[in-house]
Amino acid sequence: MRRLVREFRVDGTSLMQPLFVKEGLVDPVAIDGLPGVLQHGPDSLLEAVARAHEVGVGAVMIFGVPRDRDATGSGALHPDSVLASSIRSIRQRFDDRIVIAADLCLDEFTSHGHCGVLDRAGRVDNDATLEIYARMAVVLAEAGVHLLGTSGMMDGQVGAVRSALDSADRTDVGIMAYAVKYASAFYGPFRGAVESRLEGDRTTYQQDPANFREAMREVRLDVAEGADIIMVKPGTIYFDVLRKVSEMVDVPTATYIVSGETAMIEAAAASGSIDREAAIDEIITSARRAGATIICTYWATEFARRSSRDSRERR
Ligand code: PBG
Repeated sequence: MRRLVREFRVDGTSLMQPLFVKEGLVDPVAIDGLPGVLQHGPDSLLEAVARAHEVGVGAVMIFGVPRDRDATGSGALHPDSVLASSIRSIRQRFDDRIVIAADLCLDEFTSHGHCGVLDRAGRVDNDATLEIYARMAVVLAEAGVHLLGTSGMMDGQVGAVRSALDSADRTDVGIMAYAVKYASAFYGPFRGAVESRLEGDRTTYQQDPANFREAMREVRLDVAEGADIIMVKPGTIYFDVLRKVSEMVDVPTATYIVSGETAMIEAAAASGSIDREAAIDEIITSARRAGATIICTYWATEFARRSSRDSRERR
């Protein structure tokens, strides 16, 4: 009876699995601070995509960890970067059977770890960064990406990337706009996962957690610039923002249950203070209840496997 009257359900199809691929790796390596998540080499990456696809996960989100970084993040524009070449090999093997998303951001490629290039005063130069994002978008589109996550939080990035893609005749590549991305303490383990050497913080481009109205303005701008999906990030502690955004826009919404949120659950579960699987199911279902069409989570494959097994067992 409880199942019959349930209001919100999540299955694998609306989940997105983030995956890390590191240049030069052969065997996968565990990530400190993010239990269960790996840095992949080229082969284990394809196997991870295959596992996600097999249990019905709708999308993967690829993050590249390059060997070399420089001040301008020039590696991001290389058609054979670890990110672009990984996208190419996933697309070759899976074609359109799973959505391939990637982060359109420079932080993995810059020596200072910022999401953009710096001006003479050492501040992130918004407009100079837009030009690089536009070129990077076309490189990743040519590699076969379906969806670009504009996570750098530069003003005007959705418009710049959309027009670059359209001029390159890539109207087919979608933009998932990180319209609302807060400068959050909860990205900690991710920075380890991509070996970021961030100096300082991201408060000149990511949003103040204390602001709500500003988030709504960012959403309106991104939709007007051509966003296909609107992302609210982090997830759980910003579900109030997600609820409001999902009522406000008529494009699909996404949320990202980020590394720090994941690590907290894993730590509490490891110490025996919470039931791990129940907690994961509760968070993912709550993301849907809060209004997310798409849920990006490190638990995507695990959750999808469990939900398809549960529905099989009930039959
Ligand atoms: C930036 C980016 C970050 C995350 C995804 N894309 C880190 C940041 O903004 O500092 C964090 C995701 C997570 O914590 O799981 N490219």
